[in-house]
Amino acid sequence: MPALRIALVCLGNICRSPTADVVLNQRLRDAGLDHAVTAESCGTGDWHVGEPMDPRTARVLTAAGYDASRHRARTFGPAWFDHDLILTMDASNHTDVLASLPVDRHDRVRLFRSWDPERDPDQPVPDVPDPWYGGPAGFADVLTIVERTCTALVADLEGAGQ
Ligand code: 4NP
Repeated sequence: MPALRIALVCLGNICRSPTADVVLNQRLRDAGLDHAVTAESCGTGDWHVGEPMDPRTARVLTAAGYDASRHRARTFGPAWFDHDLILTMDASNHTDVLASLPVDRHDRVRLFRSWDPERDPDQPVPDVPDPWYGGPAGFADVLTIVERTCTALVADLEGAGQ
């Protein structure tokens, strides 16, 4: 069993949390932490269950050298309640996760961008903006935010001795 299991949660599990899943797993492998930490993703909604990533997300990831081909969308539910860290992409996902997760596990839930090195520490933790209804720039922005946040998250896990 890995020491630490991380769940990454967005709404549809076809754009933001799959991006974080692919990037975080790459960073964990690069750091030699993949034996100790696992990361996987799901969504609070079930509209896209079983589907691959949104092609706009897959295009951005593939262009940056990641493998976007293996993802299939899954839904947050009891099978995810035992994860050690549950990282939500936005405030709405956060509220939805807390609404179904047993209260004694609420301290496992954090907003993903808590680790964003470019966030303003005097402001509330920002969302990873939902790119679904926007243009291509939104998908590129998600990857930029996710990459720097995953770098900082993995550094934190390394510092914690994972
Ligand atoms: P995600 O983006 O939560 O980042 O995967 C979305 C995907 C699908 C929908 C909304 C957001 N949707 O409404 O179907």
